[in-house]
Amino acid sequence: MPGPARFGGGEPSFWWGAATSSYQVEGGNVWSDWYEWEHRQGLEQCGQAVQHYERFAEDFRLAKSLGQNAHRLSLEWGRLEPEAGNWSEEAIAHYHQVFNSLRECGLKICLTLNHFTLPTWLARQGGWECAQAVPYFERYVRRVVTEFGDQVDLWLTINEPLVLATEAYLYGHWPPAVRSRQRMRKVVERLSEAHRAAYRIIHELLSQAQVGLAHNFLSLAPLRVRFVLDQWAAERADWFWNRWLMNLTAGCHDFIGLNYYFHQRARLSLNPRRGWVSFADPKKLGHEVSALGWEVYPEGLDDLLRFSWQRYGLPLYVTENGIAPVSEAQRTNFLERSLAALLRVKEQGVDVRGYFYWSLMDNFEWDKGFSPRFGLVAVDRQSFVRTPRPAAEVYATYCGRDKLKRAGLEV
Ligand code: FCB
Repeated sequence: MPGPARFGGGEPSFWWGAATSSYQVEGGNVWSDWYEWEHRQGLEQCGQAVQHYERFAEDFRLAKSLGQNAHRLSLEWGRLEPEAGNWSEEAIAHYHQVFNSLRECGLKICLTLNHFTLPTWLARQGGWECAQAVPYFERYVRRVVTEFGDQVDLWLTINEPLVLATEAYLYGHWPPAVRSRQRMRKVVERLSEAHRAAYRIIHELLSQAQVGLAHNFLSLAPLRVRFVLDQWAAERADWFWNRWLMNLTAGCHDFIGLNYYFHQRARLSLNPRRGWVSFADPKKLGHEVSALGWEVYPEGLDDLLRFSWQRYGLPLYVTENGIAPVSEAQRTNFLERSLAALLRVKEQGVDVRGYFYWSLMDNFEWDKGFSPRFGLVAVDRQSFVRTPRPAAEVYATYCGRDKLKRAGLEV
């Protein structure tokens, strides 16, 4: 098992950061499948996103000034490899500057190799369904590790494979908008294969690397707790959403990357197309919901961290957790309750080593466009001016070392 993360001076420390993904913040990613998709579907366009491509140094300084000591980001594959096998020197030079800038700010670097988007040339060949998808991904991973490997502290191969597979191949909300259980299953297997291959390559090139993926874990309960069929539905949802992908990728995780957004109350559904399970609408049940209608239940993080620790016995990083709230009071309250859950499990001996709030700043929320506001930092849509929200200041108080010591978080 890997030792605790160490900062300069040999001191172990907890990672407090925020996460972003390239397509959602950079802007100008015209070589990615999503770019074509937005235009074709007439969706709100990502366009300049939040101009992070130009303003990255300012954004990292801001993260640093808000007390954070780590940052999660991703690379845009289509930008790096705009044509199959042809690498953009400009993009490579750009990402070198990005890593240097993170280092100058003293931020630990958690890198995601693939966060939902694909180069257009690969999407045109069938995306993750293309027989060559894994070899193409392997070539990309090799290049990235060779180029930037010494800069990265923590590797995430693929972001939320199951979310991608279901949104794109089961519900048809994301490109290529397929609705087929069979094809969704195939893509989950393909993404697992891609993860396993990337895991091997990164270790082959960097023997000490810490490699995992970011998995969207669901906190689950039966809708009617004593009703056997709802218990069965919750168990089935747990297998599909939480365990299936982890089984397919077993043995290829140095830590667990846990994204947490959803607490769901499961019940039996008579619809086989839904896998016999449906989730109750939290609003109809009278529960507090966010601006996206997602139940506000930060305490689910507590359960998931404890279960994952028991189940996998690997160090844990919360690689995403956040809210698009109805008010700033809701955001601050959500954050404080989430951090309370984190500190609670840590005190109970769960080996959680880092927390990345989603997101550092407002950004392009896929098919929902720019209206959901996930940022600790607000971004003005016209001027792109960044303004920290109250929750950023609250988070900063947790990021401070003294607070950590008082909370007994030093390992
Ligand atoms: C996660 C994604 C991330 C962002 C948040 C709100 O599922 O990884 O890109 O969209 O949800």
